[in-house]
Amino acid sequence: MNNFIIAPSILSADFARLGEEVDQVLEAGADIIHFDVMDNHYVPNLTIGPMVCKALRKHGVTADIDVHLMVKPVDRMIGEFIEAGASIITFHPEASEHIDRSLQMIRDGGCKAGLVFNPATPLHYLKHVMDKIDMVLLMSVNPGFGGQSFIPGTLDKLREARALIDASDYDIRLEVDGGVSEKNIAEIARAGADTFVAGSAIYGKPDYKAVIDMMRKELAS
Ligand code: DX5
Ligand code: ZN
Repeated sequence: MNNFIIAPSILSADFARLGEEVDQVLEAGADIIHFDVMDNHYVPNLTIGPMVCKALRKHGVTADIDVHLMVKPVDRMIGEFIEAGASIITFHPEASEHIDRSLQMIRDGGCKAGLVFNPATPLHYLKHVMDKIDMVLLMSVNPGFGGQSFIPGTLDKLREARALIDASDYDIRLEVDGGVSEKNIAEIARAGADTFVAGSAIYGKPDYKAVIDMMRKELAS
């Protein structure tokens, strides 16, 4: 896997042609697929669930599927997504009654586990579970919708999260989600992110390869 991971969010894909949209973005050079699960309860929107994840696996998708759970409660969905072929499962600490238990369920199911932090959620939740996570995901918008603008304060929070990760002995990815595009990806990487979710910036353009190439060029600059 590359040092920098580009994770297109299928939230902005054409759901009527989802398998094809996933194939195309992977052919265009994406590393993994970001899969947004919203429940109209924890967040004000409703998207896709484990059946769709399973359908993508059946369609032949072998790339890692990065499941971002924006649901409350989280535990039942964890089991269903493990069954459905998820590779990485992340959830918001506010949405779990027992964070340590939820993380353990994910790892016990053979998936990588991560915590997601909303723009105003402090990183304190990380302190006692660093040994149980593979990914920290910082939201750079309030969760619920694609196409929002990157919240600039995320850059400082990324630096803070990067320092915590580097000070630990663990191999933990630092992912950022919301308003990421070829225009700001270099600055976001300099703040410490190594995994970049982009929905509208990729699926909103006609040529996925051109955008992903441009993102890689920016990351190499
Ligand atoms: C927002 C989702 C994001 C969303 C990002 O709640 O978690 O993954 O798809 O979309 P863009 O890249 O358009 O901001
Ligand atoms: Zn997401």
